[in-house]
Amino acid sequence: MNATTLPINSTAMQSVDTPSAKLAFQLYVAIGIAVFRLMLIAGALFRATQAAWLPIPASFTYELMTLHGAGMVGVSGLAGAAVMWYFLRRYVRLSTGMFLAMLALALVGVVMILAAIGIGRFGGGWTFLYPLPARSMGVWGAHAAAAFVGGLVFIGVGFLLFYLDCALAILRRYGSLSGALGLDQLFGSRPLDTTLPPTVVASTMVIIINVLGILAGAVVLTMSLINIYVPEVAFDALLMKNLIFFFGHVFINATIYMAVIGVYEIVPRYTGRPWTISRPFLVSWAAVTLIVMAVYPHHLLMDYVMPKWMVVTGQVLSYLSGIPILLVTAYGALVNIHRAGLKWDLPLRLIIFSLFGWAAGVLPAIIDGMVRVNLVMHNTQWVPGHFHFYLLLGLVPMLLGTMLYACTRSQWTETALDRASFWTYGISGAVFCFVFLASGWQGVPRRFAVHDAAWLGFAQLGTVAAALVLVTALLLGVRLLARLPRASLSA
Ligand code: HEM
Repeated sequence: MNATTLPINSTAMQSVDTPSAKLAFQLYVAIGIAVFRLMLIAGALFRATQAAWLPIPASFTYELMTLHGAGMVGVSGLAGAAVMWYFLRRYVRLSTGMFLAMLALALVGVVMILAAIGIGRFGGGWTFLYPLPARSMGVWGAHAAAAFVGGLVFIGVGFLLFYLDCALAILRRYGSLSGALGLDQLFGSRPLDTTLPPTVVASTMVIIINVLGILAGAVVLTMSLINIYVPEVAFDALLMKNLIFFFGHVFINATIYMAVIGVYEIVPRYTGRPWTISRPFLVSWAAVTLIVMAVYPHHLLMDYVMPKWMVVTGQVLSYLSGIPILLVTAYGALVNIHRAGLKWDLPLRLIIFSLFGWAAGVLPAIIDGMVRVNLVMHNTQWVPGHFHFYLLLGLVPMLLGTMLYACTRSQWTETALDRASFWTYGISGAVFCFVFLASGWQGVPRRFAVHDAAWLGFAQLGTVAAALVLVTALLLGVRLLARLPRASLSA
């Protein structure tokens, strides 16, 4: 079936394809691809340094690591927000001005972060763990640390404005956030209303968790700024670590919960079968709204001063976090595509593949979330192994597939080069992640610029795989850019 003729959710409004809205979306995609590409290069350079193939000073490697981490997390957030905006505006009235304001503030933040790293030599990691920004042992100065932390504040303010606009628009149409999350259907007298779009449920969940996460971030960033300029004002390091990890964990998780909206909206356009909500769907999203905010202590299992109940909660919730949504999404997608007579093309391949990457990446995360395993795996390359799995093979193909779809509406003529790029990206990406996992299993530490001779084989194989990912990501990015002028915001 031709996807452009398919029905969309019955509650959808006629979304307005104004030139400014279209330009805003195109800006997000173009800037997103450019930043993503640069951050891939930074990551690959870091891996090549670990492989002893690039003789650069260790302090510069930590600058690359900081740039790569902050840049990848930031661009993933912006791209996820672009997917959410693209589809949510079909159901509620969103402001293009606010969407652009988020981009403008993020760009100010990016310039500050680039200056902090490039000029000020800040290399304290995207996690700016207290009190490291203020205690560089002479490697960077107070202004560099403040520019990095201040840059994050600008980006956070941009996101807050965007979520505020989305929340107000949802409230105007659905009355309350709990109604938009379907809680009145789960716990109230209201019967199941299948006209409530999955996009609205997912967006509401993201608004709730990310506003709380960013507010916690704002508090800890302000405290860090104070400590940078007035080191005599010291804060409780455990409190700071909790705030930072709550903020960072929620923010990076929210990227995939925004991107998954593309799956709910696009798969039905290929199959001709609507994706409607069900009770398990609503239960999953409601449960994960709470779980995703409570699970972050699994990053602090080795902090012996953490209250025991928090560590136990972190471990137990790790088994549950993400799984319900992943199950309803993967199961829903499989049911939706089963015997649908699909004509596979690049956007659809990427979107379905992303569900594999997401599902497979969650498994090593759950394993590492167990105290006994964490005792050994903590701060080994098992950790970048698990998060690269669901980001590189889950989030990125989900975003890329959605954006390709937005530019082609499934009128995609697939070439042999497309197929080769897709398979090379998938296979080399998987090898890259498995090499991280294998190194972690062998006890290779994470975030080390210089690797011991015994570890070099892993790093070298990882670098070769990274180079293939780079080349194929470039090809796919160019294909997307070439079609960007044809992007359309209407269904
Ligand atoms: C070819 C692709 C990529 C390469 C070569 C690469 C490389 C690396 C390397 C070498 C590290 C440090 C590993 C260590 O701790 O020893 C790292 C960390 C990281 N990467 Fe990637 N990466 C890639 C893709 C991605 C993607 C797609 C994302 C997110 C969407 C991402 C996000 C991160 C983050 C958040 C860190 C943590 C930085 C830190 O520990 O401060 N990376 N990456």
